[in-house]
Amino acid sequence: MKRVDDFRLKFGHKELVPIIIGGMGVDISTAELALEAARLGGIGHISDALIHDVSDRRFDTEFVKGKTRFYKHNIANSDKSSVQFDLGQLAEATRLHVGKTMEAKRGDGMVFVNVMEKLTMNSPRDTLEVRLNSALDAGIDGITLSAGLHLGSFGLMAGHPRFRDAKLGIIVSSVRALQLFLRKTARLQRLPDYVIVEGPLAGGHLGFGMDWAKYDLATIVAEIAAYLKAEQIDIPLIAAGGIFTGSDAVSFLENGAAAVQVATRFTVANECGLPAKVKQEYFRASEEDIVVNTISPTGYPMRMLQNTPAIGSGIRPNCEAYGYLLDGNGNCAYITAYNAQIVIHPDGKNLSVMDKTCLCTHMRNYNCWTCGSMTYRLKDTTRMLPDGTYLPLSAEHIFRDYQFSVDNQLLLPE
Ligand SMILES: Cc1cc2nc3c(=O)[nH]c(=O)nc-3n(C[C@H](O)[C@H](O)[C@H](O)COP(=O)(O)O)c2cc1C
Repeated sequence: MKRVDDFRLKFGHKELVPIIIGGMGVDISTAELALEAARLGGIGHISDALIHDVSDRRFDTEFVKGKTRFYKHNIANSDKSSVQFDLGQLAEATRLHVGKTMEAKRGDGMVFVNVMEKLTMNSPRDTLEVRLNSALDAGIDGITLSAGLHLGSFGLMAGHPRFRDAKLGIIVSSVRALQLFLRKTARLQRLPDYVIVEGPLAGGHLGFGMDWAKYDLATIVAEIAAYLKAEQIDIPLIAAGGIFTGSDAVSFLENGAAAVQVATRFTVANECGLPAKVKQEYFRASEEDIVVNTISPTGYPMRMLQNTPAIGSGIRPNCEAYGYLLDGNGNCAYITAYNAQIVIHPDGKNLSVMDKTCLCTHMRNYNCWTCGSMTYRLKDTTRMLPDGTYLPLSAEHIFRDYQFSVDNQLLLPE
């Protein structure tokens, strides 16, 4: 019987344990978590979501305070078009977060950064260009382009000296998305180094409509593998979404995936950024508690625990402080939903906004409990303590369990 450790992800001459911890913003997949994956010979992701805030918390910068102060005059204004990010500060925050993480890296694995392209930051092209190139400047091993895949992203990095040496990958949920991306980037003569195929059971945003349940990861991986074979394109495929045990991973590795990307199991790791109380919510969740809804202003369905405080919260839009989801014209679907409620309740008191949520603020405060569909099984991965809480695990324990387990077994902690 095979185990994950019988396989290797090959990048040129480099061989890695084929386990990738997926990016989880905002600082849920912390540097500490990503560094553990790298130390153990796999790949870990940090995320550049709300990077200014991450930098403020980690490195005592005051980017968010400074931006809020600068745009204070606009807080009561529903027109957010003037609220812009300072590109120099964006570069600095990225260099700090990525640079400090890379300095701390040990072991043979790699650290990548997850860059969600739906973070349009009121100036999509300029801000994305700075995010990508600053991460390369700071020595990141690789960049994973996700949510909202922008077909021109490779072009934004093409002038960077590390464009051909850093690992660049994309997340797709259909063969069509991959075809479009490859067509668009053909002129750069630079293929992605890896393609993560994310199915409908993943956490975070889904690359499907609300009909996500009709799709299945193994089928999509097979379709994409067949397409690449027919086109004679050789790119490692990485399967993601709902892979809960080492045996689940082996079944993908035996069917042509070069690695797996996993996240949900690591949401209850000591190194994960979620507060301890929120980890207990994840442990306690039952299958019925996990919902897919459309409250994310990005327009993508998102999976989360149904008792997440973000659902129905009617806080004032916080774009002067954050504003990561403002499109290029100062709009965000939450502002529209909030304004519709203000018309009905002009005093703004006890406001509840059900259609959308202020995702920046709630992700920042760990109040949007996004999770994968297998979250209800987390309680089976650990022990319950005498006080009724569950014991969080080390990232090493979870990683090794994926790497060495057989027969769908889950190794319980001592
Ligand atoms: C809490 C959480 C947050 C996530 N945030 C992001 C994100 O910011 N960007 C992204 O591309 N994927 C995100 N994902 C998706 C994961 O990176 C990963 O591909 C997926 O969840 C793998 O499936 P699994 O959770 O069933 O193992 C998130 C997943 C979880 C569980």
